[in-house]
Amino acid sequence: MLDQRVNPPKRNRLIDLERRMDIRPLTPRFGAELIGVGLAEVADPGAAGDAAYAFVRAAFEEHSILLFRNETITDDLQVAYSRRFGTLETAKVASLGEGTPFSILTNVDRATGALVPPDHKESLRAKANQLWHTDSSFKAQPALASVLSAHTVPPTGGETEFASQRLAWERLPESMRARVADLCVWHDYAHSRGQIAPHLASTRERDAMPPARWRIRWRNPVNGREAFYLASHAGAIEGMPDAEARALLAELTAHITDPAYTYTHRWRAGDVIMWDNRATMHRGRPWPAGDHARLMMRTTISASESDGLASVRPGVH
Ligand code: OGA
Ligand code: MN
Repeated sequence: MLDQRVNPPKRNRLIDLERRMDIRPLTPRFGAELIGVGLAEVADPGAAGDAAYAFVRAAFEEHSILLFRNETITDDLQVAYSRRFGTLETAKVASLGEGTPFSILTNVDRATGALVPPDHKESLRAKANQLWHTDSSFKAQPALASVLSAHTVPPTGGETEFASQRLAWERLPESMRARVADLCVWHDYAHSRGQIAPHLASTRERDAMPPARWRIRWRNPVNGREAFYLASHAGAIEGMPDAEARALLAELTAHITDPAYTYTHRWRAGDVIMWDNRATMHRGRPWPAGDHARLMMRTTISASESDGLASVRPGVH
């Protein structure tokens, strides 16, 4: 009671939060689970929200992948949380959720409630998501982060795997680093989709998303650490013959995603993971999609200048 009088309730809330917030590593090298702080605390517009955001933002810059467990996820909460980090993307043309802040990943036909067949567009999309990638590298405005919430998870499979493009850059042999450091890479949505089915990227999608060119590494402006910026969308390297470029991209992707260094997340409904698209790759894993539903909802935050965008822009450095 005495405490109540000395500290007004708001101040107590802030102190409690600061005492409670903690992180637990997901792997020895990258990724962290957040303890004592969830989406609602970060979304809170008050002083406690500012403190929660500052804590989570620092963890994001440091650990690249953040896990929140046992969230009571609503669309509004996910949007309010995500907005703390920047401007949200609008889901791309011809995707489920087009025009909203949500990319919807599901094998359930929303009109009928039935599971979609393997040749359905959403099944092929799920297959394309099973290629190692970072989100939105093919866009004119790339993404800082993605926030993926698990609504319905299958009993087996359907994990998401993560790799650190930052640690991959740092453990690259010096000779290779010197060889690739100044390359510029073309990222094209049609390229990654083309690996699954020739017309998976429609004319409308191709028109809306012409290829984008980025330097091969992204420098984090907070800690100065560099990361590869590669993805399944990357299909060509500026000034390099195609066959040589494809072979080099495959070699680098294998290095980045070496299974000795990845984290596999087995989802539970109520999990939310935020990843740094500047410093990681991820891929979905298959599941018995003819038998089990999976529903995931993603918000994506655009990168701004303060997120180090200039470091990936081709040009003078
Ligand atoms: C994504 C993605 C993989 C998955 O949401 O960007 O690639 O496991 N998801 O659903
Ligand atoms: Mn993705």
